[in-house]
Amino acid sequence: MGTENICKHIAIIMDGNGRWAKKRGMPRTFGHKKGAENVIKITRAMKESGVKYLTLYAFSTENWQRSKDEVDALMQLLNEYLDKEMKEIMENNVRIIFIGEKYMLSKDIQEKMDSLEKESAQNSDLTLCIALSYGSRQEIIAAVQNIAKDVQDGKLSLSDISIENFAERLYTKDVPDPDILIRTSGEQRISNYLLWQLAYTELFFTDTLWPDFNSDELNGIIDTFKSRERRYGKN
Ligand code: IPE
Ligand code: IPE
Ligand code: MG
Repeated sequence: MGTENICKHIAIIMDGNGRWAKKRGMPRTFGHKKGAENVIKITRAMKESGVKYLTLYAFSTENWQRSKDEVDALMQLLNEYLDKEMKEIMENNVRIIFIGEKYMLSKDIQEKMDSLEKESAQNSDLTLCIALSYGSRQEIIAAVQNIAKDVQDGKLSLSDISIENFAERLYTKDVPDPDILIRTSGEQRISNYLLWQLAYTELFFTDTLWPDFNSDELNGIIDTFKSRERRYGKN
């Protein structure tokens, strides 16, 4: 038996909002609203558990293919959310960063994201990283293009390409790799999330739908993680 693992970073795939609403005979967007409310609760619980980084999958590049009605409703919810709840989170000494294909979002939303990032840059209790319009394969291709350009321009030689200088070109350059990945709602797939970063992450799948996921379950997962045998990926 080794010493307890320390959990610095938890990544979550917040899945199951639509099914949560359907079970109650409500429209999917009602589930998204409840899901957004749960982000506040879980962020608070993370701060209390001493976790330093939390990365949440809020909207994938593939999610743009959902019906126009659902995408519009999600964008409206996001827009309101960035005004109210995100400000509140930020005022609790939480640094907020966004990863993903920002250019696909409306100008209005992009401006709000930029100002939250700037205003919260010095906050230090927790870093909340929100994956929005995020796709891991797209992120990796962008990093490949960036590194290939440096080789082409003679700034870097082919043999100097390394795990470290490649990782510096990913959206997550300022964030350590996740120790724990949690996916709610019973699905057991990665859905184009943090493919590079999850190389040695411990995986947890729960049947709980995202709006019902609570701090007790979260703390149970953190406790299980602490006693898992780990050879690589320690922070
Ligand atoms: C996750 O819930 C939230 C987003 C992907 C935006 P879903 O909308 O995927 O809910 P289910 O999986 O259909 O229940
Ligand atoms: C993954 O959930 C994306 C988010 C939770 C934001 P999805 O519900 O979109 O994933 P798939 O399509 O079922 O794999
Ligand atoms: Mg889903």
